[in-house]
Amino acid sequence: MPPKPLDYGSINENVKKSQYAVRGELYLRASELQKEGKKIIFTNVGNPHALGQRPLTFPRQVVALCQAPFLLDDPNVGLLFPADAIARAKHYLSLTSGGLGAYSDSRGLPGIRKEIAEFILKRDGYPSDPELIYLTDGASKGVMQILNTIIRGQDDGILVPVPQYPLYSATIALLGGTLVPYYLEETANWGLDVNELRKSVEQARFRGITVKAMVIINPGNPTGQCVSEANLREILQFCYQENLALLGDEVYQQNIYQDERPFISSKKVLMDLGPPISKEVQLISFHSVSKGYYGECGQRGGYFEMTNIPPETVDEIYKVASISLSPNVPAQIFMGVMINPLKPGDISYDQFVRESNGILESLRRRARIMTDGFNSCRNVVCNFTEGAMYSFPQIRLPPRAIDAAKQAGKVADVFYCLKLLEATGISTVPGSGFGQKEGVFHLRTTILPAEEDMPAIMDSFKKFNDEFMEQYEDNRGYSRL
Ligand SMILES: Cc1ncc(COP(=O)(O)O)c(C=O)c1O
Repeated sequence: MPPKPLDYGSINENVKKSQYAVRGELYLRASELQKEGKKIIFTNVGNPHALGQRPLTFPRQVVALCQAPFLLDDPNVGLLFPADAIARAKHYLSLTSGGLGAYSDSRGLPGIRKEIAEFILKRDGYPSDPELIYLTDGASKGVMQILNTIIRGQDDGILVPVPQYPLYSATIALLGGTLVPYYLEETANWGLDVNELRKSVEQARFRGITVKAMVIINPGNPTGQCVSEANLREILQFCYQENLALLGDEVYQQNIYQDERPFISSKKVLMDLGPPISKEVQLISFHSVSKGYYGECGQRGGYFEMTNIPPETVDEIYKVASISLSPNVPAQIFMGVMINPLKPGDISYDQFVRESNGILESLRRRARIMTDGFNSCRNVVCNFTEGAMYSFPQIRLPPRAIDAAKQAGKVADVFYCLKLLEATGISTVPGSGFGQKEGVFHLRTTILPAEEDMPAIMDSFKKFNDEFMEQYEDNRGYSRL
């Protein structure tokens, strides 16, 4: 009997190659332990509502009314919903062709794309064309669409930061392309050195790879750094010199926890550079409703904006988007409310500001508690989380721990994270899932557990880490910095 088409040996090898650590071995073991009744603190995914973040009231009111439009005809609607939510719901329903149950244009509702263009104009000071904005089911879908458009085969390379969010490595593997790594420098607060980039491109070209695009994640996941304007300028100049498209993953643009480097978009820096660069470098920027103070991961809403992409290519991307008929329509409304927030004087404004500032201020404090907590532990060093939702401490492991991991058939950081999980219930992601320099070990946690639980979580981490180090220390030093 020949193998059947879906037998393991017959399926697409690229599917097997694509790895997604955030839901990998650690997550599966944590789920098992949870089923056995152990209390698990899931810090493996940037999923704020799963860790108790309350949804913002206003966007939920708007979408609730859009989902149940008969409420708008109820004479008592004004008792339950504020007038601005009612007005917004009517506005968004008027942009749909048949409410939330109808497919939209495959690029998203034209009215919302127009509002996104206005948001970008206000944010960057440069006009944006709604025809070049496509709504997607989360930023992930947009990234996949664009990588699918770029990658023709294994000779096409994409420059990806290491450490990186595995959406990129997994999708490049799935599409049969080549990931070209560039290393972020941990001792320079995860900074990006253009000389390193140049080396990576030269090495890849030497191997016959056509390097086509570069990914930046700003603010960074898992590394939490905010890219400076000067650094963005260098990156764009580099893309211009090397003929690379830039994919700017900006899903964490609301999550900033320091004041020295506020978020600045790649689009603004590109436009500020002026011609010829501003007219030549091809840029795709991604945004999402999953992060920031919205944290509406389950709604699956995102968009991308294309700059300097030729119309024929835009049409092809449209055609491919059309295969899925339409992005998720309720999520488009979330996106609409997010990029067109309430203004001073609106009835719900004060509550909205209270809620959103409350979340951001608490995240800022949690970033500090976590970083300080990690840095107070033996053999742990951690850069401050300047933005995004993660802490990425380096764990300097004693050789005996590395040997023990080998014997257990595990990568050393997986070994450490599994022990941490079993001892404390804290479910993290080993640094190897994001890529890291050879012989260096990390773990990633989100900064999302409730603020009041943070001190106890950090105490329990410290206790575990001390005991682990005690158990494996043997005076032969540690893994390198
Ligand atoms: C850097 C980065 N990009 C994209 C995404 C995916 O976002 P979405 O939920 O919009 O698909 C994430 C999710 O964690 C992320 O960290």
